Amino acid sequence: MDFKEKLKEYQQQINQELEKYVRKQKSPEQKLNQSMEYSLMAGGKRLRPVLVLATYQLFKDDIEKCMPYAVAIEMVHNFSLIHDDLPGIDNDDFRHGKPTNHKQFNEATAILAGDGLLNDAYHVISQDLLNSDTERTAKRIRILNEFSEAVDRMIAGEYIDTEWEGKQITKQELEYIHENKTGALLKLCVRMGAILADCTEIELQGLSNYADKIGLAFQIKDDILSEEGDEAILGKPVGNDKELEKCTYVSRYGLQGAKDILDKITKEAIEKLEKYGDKAEFLKELALYIQNRNK
Ligand code: IPE
Ligand code: IPE
Ligand code: MG
Ligand code: MG
Repeated sequence: MDFKEKLKEYQQQINQELEKYVRKQKSPEQKLNQSMEYSLMAGGKRLRPVLVLATYQLFKDDIEKCMPYAVAIEMVHNFSLIHDDLPGIDNDDFRHGKPTNHKQFNEATAILAGDGLLNDAYHVISQDLLNSDTERTAKRIRILNEFSEAVDRMIAGEYIDTEWEGKQITKQELEYIHENKTGALLKLCVRMGAILADCTEIELQGLSNYADKIGLAFQIKDDILSEEGDEAILGKPVGNDKELEKCTYVSRYGLQGAKDILDKITKEAIEKLEKYGDKAEFLKELALYIQNRNK
């Protein structure tokens, strides 16, 4: 199976799994549930859960063991997007080619839908903990701990990204924003897949190095797309970073400078997987996909 087919297969598996968590029953808070579903099922790339599954499959095949964690990270990701788009943060009107959550519903509903998705993520994980035997539980508690730390970093990154709009910052400060707001969750995904697959600490470290690279690459590409992407393909606004004077790789290094750094980091990411040979083909292709994506 080639990369594109495999990616599609993972995305379909993830979408099917996510569907199970959508609340359809009639209740006074039905609109809130619809608002959570609206964002969760809006057609994101599912990159984070794909990373969990693909890293796990470097070692083992029974990916159903990862599904609660794949679902949980996608819930947190969508919580972060809903809140990122709010008037108080990026004030964006479109995502996934549709009105943002607060535009489709209203601000109160969007804030609470984000809160709901964040809480649901922890609920899904706790359910898996309840179902696991003693030996598996210790590993899952480690994952839960890392999960909450990564979410903490994403929130910190979002805060700084907003706080530092318009500010002249150093290279280190720019990296700090990207590592936290975006890198932390992507790294968590790789680490969850690896830990669930019982890899060694050395393997975990090596894969974390790969994850650091693709995490940074992913956000640099997001910065580039915010400058020169095609809104119709991207499904979200172009030019918004400039408008808000965001600190990005494009604002600091220029468009070509950002592209050069992206190319370099993508190469470094792929090098980190050398020792896995053909087994890591998908993860290598995923780094190239991140570099070359247009949405
Ligand atoms: C967008 O992430 C937000 C960033 C961290 C840059 P994605 O581009 O992965 O979002 P979707 O879910 O695929 O739309
Ligand atoms: C995304 O930041 C990071 C999170 C949502 C945590 P951006 O604001 O750069 O992402 P887009 O461009 O709105 O997707
Ligand atoms: Mg933002
Ligand atoms: Mg944004």
